Amino acid sequence: MYQTLTFLHSTFRWLVLLSLVYAIFTAYKGYFSNKKFSKTDNSVRHWTATIAHIQLVLGITLYSQSPVIRYFWKNFNEAKESLDLLFFGLIHIFLMLFSIILITIGSAISKRKTTDQEKFKTMLIYFIIALAIIFIAIPWPFSPLANRPYFR
Ligand code: HEM
Repeated sequence: MYQTLTFLHSTFRWLVLLSLVYAIFTAYKGYFSNKKFSKTDNSVRHWTATIAHIQLVLGITLYSQSPVIRYFWKNFNEAKESLDLLFFGLIHIFLMLFSIILITIGSAISKRKTTDQEKFKTMLIYFIIALAIIFIAIPWPFSPLANRPYFR
């Protein structure tokens, strides 16, 4: 169960990143070339938020099953001194939750905007900020915070 969840959560990161980069590219092109906000653009907005929500569910499930997290909360006083444990116990979840909230709010505001320009602009701003935070909060092999492989 734990191994399957780790595999799914690790692999799903690529879909989260790809969808966000594609949505940002779509919003950038739409905004700067005064395009009409098409049905496809709306699907891109919708699916980017949905993919982030699926990763959130995988993350919460993994959090409840992980021996790393169990160890962190059982031995909080010593464990908080280890950056690796503090990262997975608090930093990762906090930053990821914050960025998924940004994606959700950005997507909802964009949907309610009345002009196509405003729809693209809202998507662009919220999704870029969320992508930057997600990038920092992923335990890349080169991250100064915590390291996990690119693929499981
Ligand atoms: C966009 C959102 C997220 C992305 C891209 C992401 C990405 C990742 C990646 C790449 C790993 C390393 C997996 C590995 O060991 O190979 C990881 C680990 C982990 N993530 Fe996330 N994550 C996200 C959101 C969340 C959320 C919201 C939670 C919790 C509520 C969470 C909980 C965890 C836990 C507990 C681990 C480590 C488990 C362990 O090593 O035992 N993640 N995440």
